[in-house]
Amino acid sequence: MKKLVVLSGSGISAESGISTFRGGGGLWNNYRVEDVASIEGWHRNPGLMLEFYNGMRADLPHHAPNLAHTLLAELEKEYAVTVITQNVDDLHERAGSSHIIHLHGEVTKVRPEDCYTDRDGYSLRYVQDIGYGSIQMGDTGGPNKRQLRPHIVWFGEAVPNISAAAREVSEADILLIIGTSLQVYPAAGLVSYAPSRCRIFVIDPGEVSAHGATHIQAPATEGMKKLIKML
Ligand code: OAD
Repeated sequence: MKKLVVLSGSGISAESGISTFRGGGGLWNNYRVEDVASIEGWHRNPGLMLEFYNGMRADLPHHAPNLAHTLLAELEKEYAVTVITQNVDDLHERAGSSHIIHLHGEVTKVRPEDCYTDRDGYSLRYVQDIGYGSIQMGDTGGPNKRQLRPHIVWFGEAVPNISAAAREVSEADILLIIGTSLQVYPAAGLVSYAPSRCRIFVIDPGEVSAHGATHIQAPATEGMKKLIKML
């Protein structure tokens, strides 16, 4: 089986009604990134951060995977598919994709703030799946009974899954970039790991610098239908 690696971003979930980050109506228009998505923000006002991610979690069951997520999952019948996503939602999981790497964490999970550090290694031991539930200040976990925090990679933090993701891209026969502006590193740098034989497709309704890739300029659902005919 050929290996198809997908690099997805918030644009793939746009047709499910979830805001993208940048551009008109983007999530970052309503919030200051540094207040809700940076490690400094957590140290400054953890209560506000918990409220923000509790809201995101509670909203998630109101959004269903769209045809783009589903068609990607169905490609597993013909390809060895790995989905590398920058999204923290669970729509790839709910659509049935079986091999997913979340680069920026998962909103449905939490962990004690002292675990999962470099000293601890990349340990998943204290990560808890809370589904669409919420956590409050004073909720603790782990051996040291420390405050629980969202299992999200914030600005200012390392991206532990980046090496696993780079390895996947380096073995790809086909790379599909879908719904990401590729403005955030290290995720944006993953494309450079694609081997020279790799066919690269970009699905995005906007203007993108495709660097030799085939740009399917369409929303994710329509773009996926077109891609399947081109493969
Ligand atoms: P962006 O908001 O930067 O980019 C979204 C991309 O999706 C843009 O290129 C849009 O043109 C495209 N798009 C919009 N509607 C679409 C549709 N219906 N179908 C397909 N594409 C569509 O979001 P990301 O690239 O995901 O990180 O942002 C990357 C990271 O920046 C996020 O993971 C988050 C954010 O800061 C962290 O919080 C660490």
